[in-house]
Amino acid sequence: MVGTGYVGLVSGACFAETGNDVVCADIDAGKVERLNRGEIPIFEPGLEEVVHRNVQGGRLRFSSDVGSSIASAQAVFVAVGTPPRRDGAADLSAVDSVAETVAAHAQRETVIVLKSTVPVGTNARVGRIVADANHSIHVVSNPEFLKEGDAVNDFLRPDRIVIGCADGDDFARDIMARLYHPVCLDHDRIVWMDPASAELTKYVANTMLAMRISFMNEVAALCEKVGADVHHVRHGVGSDQRVGPKFLYAGPGYGGSCFPKDVKALVHTGREHGVELELASTTDRVNERQKGTLARKLKKYFDGDLRGKRIGVWGIAFKPRTDDVRESASLTLVDVLLSEGATVLAHDPEALDTARQHYGDRIELVDEAYKAADNVDALVLVTEWREYQNPDFERLKSLMRRPLVLDGRNIWSSYGLRRQGFTYDGIGVHGS
Ligand SMILES: NC(=O)c1ccc[n+]([C@@H]2O[C@H](COP(=O)([O-])OP(=O)(O)OC[C@H]3O[C@@H](n4cnc5c(N)ncnc54)[C@H](O)[C@@H]3O)[C@@H](O)[C@H]2O)c1
Repeated sequence: MVGTGYVGLVSGACFAETGNDVVCADIDAGKVERLNRGEIPIFEPGLEEVVHRNVQGGRLRFSSDVGSSIASAQAVFVAVGTPPRRDGAADLSAVDSVAETVAAHAQRETVIVLKSTVPVGTNARVGRIVADANHSIHVVSNPEFLKEGDAVNDFLRPDRIVIGCADGDDFARDIMARLYHPVCLDHDRIVWMDPASAELTKYVANTMLAMRISFMNEVAALCEKVGADVHHVRHGVGSDQRVGPKFLYAGPGYGGSCFPKDVKALVHTGREHGVELELASTTDRVNERQKGTLARKLKKYFDGDLRGKRIGVWGIAFKPRTDDVRESASLTLVDVLLSEGATVLAHDPEALDTARQHYGDRIELVDEAYKAADNVDALVLVTEWREYQNPDFERLKSLMRRPLVLDGRNIWSSYGLRRQGFTYDGIGVHGS
């Protein structure tokens, strides 16, 4: 498993859990050192236990020497980052580098499995890089669909496993089928297809989900204008089985390491091939605008002037049950607050370390939720962690300088809070 981040570590540990011998390799020597000391560098529920059990069982180890780690492997999974370039395209330099390493070090016929999210054509591109290797190297696309926060469960009980494999490549097909056999015992979850379709499937799935969110964010803005409530609209619409209830939540804009970059990359791929994916580009544009919503709403209560205001923020991770802050709506809000002269106190149950790496001492990170309400002019909820769902509002009110709450996830009762004397604002709910 090359690349030991959110995807690689979970996938490597879970493949070890089902009995395979796995080496997780990463060029980040510090990360590998921590893993070898028994530390888990990310927060992911259930992961620590799986890692420790399999390290103890001798099926999982970690190395920063990628070449020797892959030398005798029957399958080499590529789970390195594919971050966005400035033009929106995916940066494939890490994928290329792994392919070059495999071409140089493989000592047997092997399969390279592209698990990183990569644009259409990458399977063929990697095929060209490994074409002259000493041993035959097969290239397979196997995009990952796990959700941070529930990744171990997703890996072991996936909705489906998409595998893009060239027609007639029985060697690769056999290895992939055997690797995923343990998670297909109850029913076959593998959806076989050609590599280009597999590559595209991942981007289309993420863009479809992102599109639902952006659409509901637009609907929420309309609700605010016409006196409707997005909660009711969501229930009414999502209970139609053709629509379904998931990913219909209005909020502060989607974040994370996947949706923003994957939507942009799909638009870029379309343009490269002369196809303007207008729904996808609008989804991205709507989200960029939505990420400014919390700051815009907040400013309204201070006559546009945030200088000297003290603002509490609940939630920095881009969603609950992860410590990942990449592209989080919270970062967008905090950036505006800081640039406009406000002081920020922020809490998150798991993301304080990743937030500290991002902000240093520019914001005050507190280790207990109520401390973020201390003498603040407003409290903004950005990430719907469970512990924020039913706080002691009387206690909050007594701590705050001004009882103004901005509920970026619509998880509190606007009616109840107003009765308790708060000024309440949400996203597309009554009174927003
Ligand atoms: N995070 C998710 O929820 C998720 C879900 C599905 C798919 N993906 C995709 O999976 C890929 C990895 O995402 P992630 O969130 O795990 O990223 P990550 O940044 O957490 O991890 C990537 C790891 O790769 C390592 N790396 C970079 N270049 C390397 C190289 N040349 N050789 C060896 N190691 C190298 C980095 O040091 C890092 O540890 C991306 O393409 C992403 O889009 C992510």
